[in-house]
Amino acid sequence: MVNIPKTMKAWIVTRTGKLPGILELKTNWPTPTPPKTGEIMIRVSYAALNPGEIKVMAMAAPCRVNTIAGMDFVGEVIQIGPTTPKSHSDVRVGMIVGGTVPLMNMWRGAGALSEYLVLPAHTVVEKPKGLDESVAAGLLGIAGQTNAVIMRAANLHQGDKVLINGASGGVGCISIQVLRGMGVHVTAICSAKNEAFVRRLGAEEVIDYNAHKSLPDYLTSVCAEPGNRPFDAIFNNIKNEPLYTRSPKYLKPNGKYLDIEAGPFGYFKLSKWWPVILGGTPRTHINILSRPSSDSAKDAAAWIEKGWIKEIPVDSTFEMDNALQAYERMVSNRATGKIFVKVK
Ligand SMILES: NC(=O)c1ccc[n+]([C@@H]2O[C@H](COP(=O)([O-])OP(=O)(O)OC[C@H]3O[C@@H](n4cnc5c(N)ncnc54)[C@H](OP(=O)(O)O)[C@@H]3O)[C@@H](O)[C@H]2O)c1
Repeated sequence: MVNIPKTMKAWIVTRTGKLPGILELKTNWPTPTPPKTGEIMIRVSYAALNPGEIKVMAMAAPCRVNTIAGMDFVGEVIQIGPTTPKSHSDVRVGMIVGGTVPLMNMWRGAGALSEYLVLPAHTVVEKPKGLDESVAAGLLGIAGQTNAVIMRAANLHQGDKVLINGASGGVGCISIQVLRGMGVHVTAICSAKNEAFVRRLGAEEVIDYNAHKSLPDYLTSVCAEPGNRPFDAIFNNIKNEPLYTRSPKYLKPNGKYLDIEAGPFGYFKLSKWWPVILGGTPRTHINILSRPSSDSAKDAAAWIEKGWIKEIPVDSTFEMDNALQAYERMVSNRATGKIFVKVK
């Protein structure tokens, strides 16, 4: 029987606004109440950070005060709520699981930057054996789950060609490896300092975004060269409207532009909906919004089992007490791979 203390350490979002003033480390935050039917309690070992968390914290969402920061986690299941004949979860006490905290649970006060976390059992996935616990949250959380949504929407085949804008970030560094696992040719856009990094992950061609005044101009000229063919898909992780509006010059007519950058606001992009007859872009724009799902986490775990993911690149790992520095690193927009916080 695990001894669960009444209070725990947790990073609390005390108000909405900009970091760092809105986050406080509390050492006596009430431990979540024991799991109810269908729920589990997890002792968190590591959290992984995402830029989206900062965007959510900045929004004036009044219900999001005094909640716990952090979404992606990995940790050990230490308690399972009462089972009923209908509960058929395969989660066991002692299992190491990972995932991301669903928004509803965040609003109710659950967060990855806390020692204990209670979540519905169906939202987590068992950590694959070949994945180190210290980096597992970087794959089983948002970065991996978003890739699962992108890959389903992209529906690519061996031999296809994909361009990734923002290839060195948390999402892009997984996309490269999954695409290479599928036999897809990858062209990565990143800065020169990250060229060796993205090549190590599997990118065959690299474009330094600082070396070209206009990426669409450069891509247009490369695509026009004899022997070069347009892309089957573009994965966009960085704000760059012209990359889409000028894509007919380098994206196949039936190619897809898969955009994660704008999150929920991407559905309202004018360029996406503007009719072609009135000057709109004749290419399919798909706004990707990843919703926490154990199915997506399972897809990500399966990539480890298939041997497609060779590494979860670690930009940096911070101790729990230094999570503010981890968020500062995230805000810098310079992370190469994922940023982790050691919670345990
Ligand atoms: N829609 C969704 O469901 C969803 C899910 C996940 C993430 N997102 C969003 O997608 C975006 C990317 O997420 P992420 O986790 O991959 O971010 P991240 O890890 O913070 O990305 C940082 C990387 O971006 C690169 N970068 C910065 N400026 C660049 C530019 N102009 N061109 C190319 N690369 C550039 C940096 O490389 P250099 O230092 O070399 O510039 C760095 O490696 C974020 O805006 C995030 O909020 C959305």
